[in-house]
Amino acid sequence: MRDHVVVLTGAGISAESGLSTFRDNGGLWEEHSVYDVATPEAFARNQELVLRFYNDRRRQLESAQPNQAHRLLAELESRYRVTIVTQNVDDLHERGGSSNVIHLHGELTKARSSQHPELVYDIGYRDIQPGETCERGAQLRPHIVWFGEEVPMLDAAAEMVRTADHLLIVGTSLQVYPAAGLVYEVEPGVPVTVVDPAEPPSVSRARFIQKGACEGVADWVAGLS
Ligand code: APR
Repeated sequence: MRDHVVVLTGAGISAESGLSTFRDNGGLWEEHSVYDVATPEAFARNQELVLRFYNDRRRQLESAQPNQAHRLLAELESRYRVTIVTQNVDDLHERGGSSNVIHLHGELTKARSSQHPELVYDIGYRDIQPGETCERGAQLRPHIVWFGEEVPMLDAAAEMVRTADHLLIVGTSLQVYPAAGLVYEVEPGVPVTVVDPAEPPSVSRARFIQKGACEGVADWVAGLS
């Protein structure tokens, strides 16, 4: 049975593809207030502002490309069972070639009904318009997990971390729960490595590679037997 590599990723893994992170200098949460664009209350208050925020990010994503870190994790599937657990809503892991990707916080390339959450639609990189509805007549919204909302894929992700033989954490500040709590699901004795160019998020017993994702993941892969 091949070893199971689980990779928990955040916005930092897509930084070298030109996509902004949230909490770094010049990050998204410096320019926008979470309370204006990333809560159900914000959507109820000002749909146009929220739709514009995600339409802009979706257009940016269309011209972004997967980077070396995304590609290396996909290539690893030839030797290991690899599960990507990502907080990212971009599709760069899939475009990089990864086949097992769990999106904890939703996906930019999908829309869903604001009244019937089971109605989810692939929309590629196009805008969602105010007044655009699902098949039951309710306004469409981005298929994103907003602050204060359930994280439907959390249990599936926790199960993956519990069965990991290696846990790699790339480009996340581990400040947002419940996603950040997944690091505590790893079995004792399983090697844990964090790749981040800045001060590492505190993960006990973890080895730390203080580099950007592309170089750091390359180092980590080179160190795997
Ligand atoms: N390579 C690797 N890591 C990087 C790079 C890089 N080139 N550039 C920055 N980083 C690191 C930062 O040092 C930071 O630790 O990526 C991390 C980004 O942290 P955040 O901006 O907080 O993003 P993330 O952890 O993904 O946010 C979690 O918060 O806003 C919500 O829903 C949103 O999914 C998101 C969640």
